[in-house]
Amino acid sequence: MPLWMYEIEGARPLQGRVRISGSKNASLALLAAALLADGPSTLRNVPILRDTLHMIRLIEHLGAHVTMCGNAVIVDPAGFSVDLVPYDIMSKMRASFYAMGPMLAKLGRARVSLPGGCAIGDRPVDLHLEGFKALGAGLSRNAGYIHARHRGLVGARLSLMGPNGTSVGATINVMMVAAFAEGSTTIDDAAREPEVVEVGMMLQAMGAKIDGLGTNRIRVEGVNKLRPVDWTVSPDRIEAGTYLIGALATHGDVTLENVSVETLEPVITEAVLWGADFSEPEAGCLRVRRGKDAKRPLKIVTEPWPGFPTDMQSVFTTLLALTPGVSQIRETIYQDRFNQVPELNRLGAKVSREKSLVSIEGVAALQGAAVMASDLRAGAALVMAALAAHGTSQVRRVYHVERGYEYMDSKLRQLGAVVRRVPEVEADPGLAQAATDTFDAQVEALSAGRRMEV
Ligand code: UD1
Repeated sequence: MPLWMYEIEGARPLQGRVRISGSKNASLALLAAALLADGPSTLRNVPILRDTLHMIRLIEHLGAHVTMCGNAVIVDPAGFSVDLVPYDIMSKMRASFYAMGPMLAKLGRARVSLPGGCAIGDRPVDLHLEGFKALGAGLSRNAGYIHARHRGLVGARLSLMGPNGTSVGATINVMMVAAFAEGSTTIDDAAREPEVVEVGMMLQAMGAKIDGLGTNRIRVEGVNKLRPVDWTVSPDRIEAGTYLIGALATHGDVTLENVSVETLEPVITEAVLWGADFSEPEAGCLRVRRGKDAKRPLKIVTEPWPGFPTDMQSVFTTLLALTPGVSQIRETIYQDRFNQVPELNRLGAKVSREKSLVSIEGVAALQGAAVMASDLRAGAALVMAALAAHGTSQVRRVYHVERGYEYMDSKLRQLGAVVRRVPEVEADPGLAQAATDTFDAQVEALSAGRRMEV
C-alpha cells in the first residue's frame, strides 16, 4: 500500500467557502456512547476519516452492528457482548479507550489494553481508572491489560484533577459509567470542553440524568437503561480553526460554513489580537480575512476550555512564523507536542524550543521543501505552512493528517489551493525509488551483518 503525500504549490491565497465537517473528537466518543442504548441509534454528520472508521471497526469488533450511509452511522448495540479491546486496536488509536466505559456500564466487565504513549508524548489513563474504581469497579493489571469488573456500580463523589489539569476523555468515560450507577455521582474537576458537553447532551437525549455540563462539577443520577437516539454531530472546531489559520497565513478570504462560533471563541480571541477580521454573513457561517493592522505577534498559553486549545497551537505556530516580531507559545497540556517545530524550520521558519515553550521569530516568507507529518495537528500545521510558502512543498505521511481532516485535499482545492495527493515515491519518479531501494538494501545488509555478529 503506498504512502501518500500532499504536493502543494504555495503562496496562493485561500479564497471562497468551505463546509466544516462534524467534530472528529466528539464523534469518537458519541459512537462509543451509542453502545449504551437499548436499540439502534443514528449519528449524523459523522466525518468519515481514519479515526472514526477505526472506532466503527472497534464497535463492530465488540459485537455491535454498524450501518453507514454517507455521513450517517447507525449503531445497533444488540450484539454488544465482547469485553476485550486488544493491543492491536488500542495501539492504533488511543481513543479506543472510550470502549471501556460502555463495557463496564453494559457488560459489567472489561479487558482493555493500556494505550501507552503516542507521538505527542506520555498519555496516561490513570484518571479514567480512578473514576471507574470510585464507581465500584475492581481493577487489576496483567501483561499490559487492565482487567475490570464489578458487581453493581454505585454513585460516588470523585475528582478528575490530574497533574496537567482535568481530562476530556476521563470525564466522558466516567460520565458514561455513572449514567448506569445506582444513586448519584458528582464529578469534581470535570472537563468543560464542547465535546464533553455534546456527549453529555446526547446522553441526556437518551434519558440520562445529567446536570452541570459545561461547568467543572457534573452530577449524574443513575438510570437502568438508555434509549436510542437520533443525533447530529456538531461542527469540528479544530478543523474550522485550521482553515481559519490557512486563510490568514495565505492572505486569503474564507467563509467557513457550518461552524459553531461559540466553540471557536478562544481561537477567535487570539486571531483578533493578531489582527484578523471576522464577520458572520449568515447564521452558522464565519468569514475570516486579515484586518488593516494584521500581523501582531502573540503570547499564547494552551489551557483546558475555555482557554486556548492545545490542538490549535501547532497551526498558530505556522501563522506566527510569518508574523514580524517574536511570539511565544507555552504548552501546558502536552509539554512535548511540538513535532511541527523542526519541520517548520525546514521551510525557513525560525522557531526555537525550550521545554514546553516555543519562541517564534517571524520571517518574511517560507520556502517550499519536503517535510514530514508525524502527528495529526503537527501535520496540519505543515500543510498550512506549505500553502503559504513560496514554491513547491511535499508534506509526507499525510495519513496522520487524514486521521482528523475529512477530504482536506479537496476542500483546499475548492479554496483555490494547488494540492495534489500523490504516492510518496512519485514526486521523484525512478530516482527516488532507486535511491530508496539502494539505501534499504544497504541498511538490510548492515543489519543482517550485525545479526550474524551477535
Ligand atoms: C482529547 C482530544 C485531544 C485533545 C485533548 C485535550 C479526543 C479524541 N482527543 O484527548 O485532541 O488534545 O483532549 O484537549 O477527544 N491525563 C492524565 N491522566 C489521564 C488522562 C489524561 O494525566 O487519565 C492528562 C494528559 O496526559 C494531558 C491532560 O491530562 O496532559 C489532558 O488530557 P485529556 O483531556 O485526557 O486528553 P484526551 O481526552 O486523551
